Amino acid sequence: MTVQTKTLGKDGVSVTALGLGTWAWGDKLFWNYGDRYGQEQVESAFTAGVEAGITFFDTAEVYGLGESENLLGRFMKKTAQHIDIATKYGPAPWRFGGDAVHDAVTNSLKRLQLNQITLYQVHWPFTFLMSQETLLNALAEEVKRGRITAVGVSNYSAEAMKQAADILAKKGVPLAVNQVQYSLLYRNIEREGIKKTADDLGVTILAYSPLAQGLLTGKYKPDYKPDGARKLDPRFSEGGLKKIAPLLDLLTQLGQKYGKTPAQVSLNWLIAKPNVIPIPGAKTAQQAKDNAGALGWELTGEEVKQLDEISLRVL
Ligand SMILES: NC(=O)c1ccc[n+]([C@@H]2O[C@H](COP(=O)([O-])OP(=O)(O)OC[C@H]3O[C@@H](n4cnc5c(N)ncnc54)[C@H](OP(=O)(O)O)[C@@H]3O)[C@@H](O)[C@H]2O)c1
Repeated sequence: MTVQTKTLGKDGVSVTALGLGTWAWGDKLFWNYGDRYGQEQVESAFTAGVEAGITFFDTAEVYGLGESENLLGRFMKKTAQHIDIATKYGPAPWRFGGDAVHDAVTNSLKRLQLNQITLYQVHWPFTFLMSQETLLNALAEEVKRGRITAVGVSNYSAEAMKQAADILAKKGVPLAVNQVQYSLLYRNIEREGIKKTADDLGVTILAYSPLAQGLLTGKYKPDYKPDGARKLDPRFSEGGLKKIAPLLDLLTQLGQKYGKTPAQVSLNWLIAKPNVIPIPGAKTAQQAKDNAGALGWELTGEEVKQLDEISLRVL
């Protein structure tokens, strides 16, 4: 099956133009893993994603305190398909030297049962006792050792991303991605210059929470609330849902034209942007399949513009 691809960075590794996010796999703090869904459902999400041609999965050492990586490691053993994994390093206060970075990579490789990680990202731009130089130089070393293929950052401002790119460039390693929140309901990266700086630097944006944690699917209603921590999120309240109704109406209308769901239209809007790869979360086979269906067709330029405009009006 041929699926559209994009590169991680200007001339980096090619991955599918949509990845699947696995924060909810094993996570009980935010997502209530083990309550309404569990291992069986997330394994079927993995299988359905791969069957639909998606071979790029985003995780982090902190998701489910290692369980998301463990699950991916086990699922990957059951398929002959090459899978590209993006995982993340948590800059915790007790990690203060290059050895801590080396150990973190070793532990992620073990959980994932891999010899090499396609993309290794710094989860947050926190500097406690370890400077950005020490951290990024240690990651550049890991690229030279062959344990990671590409280096990325996450939640970095335009300025912090530029500094990270400069530090890595001194070691001959390009900064491949900045993973940040980006969706029709969260467009701060456009306003804050992160998108423009990423484009100028040749850094790919991995768009997290691209469905605004389920809001853009249109399934949530005043009498149908999400579970877990989202219950407290005002965006899911009656007033919050009313505010975004004009956007959801347009998503439904465009979806009807193409035979697609509002989620697929929302993700297609991101795929239409150069240099952007959305990584929607999927807990079930149905969600993985639905999200994969955002590939293989295109909104017109005029429709992308219409969505651009209406989303700014409801933000
Ligand atoms: N770097 C960071 O700091 C950071 C932060 C957040 C996320 N991320 C990454 O980005 C990924 C995605 O972000 P996210 O999980 O926050 O938000 P999201 O992708 O916007 O939403 C995911 C949730 O929406 C619902 N959903 C997904 N696809 C659906 C579909 N086709 N139909 C109906 N419902 C659907 C599911 O929850 P329900 O079924 O319960 O509604 C799912 O858990 C994460 O898994 C993680 O890999 C990174």
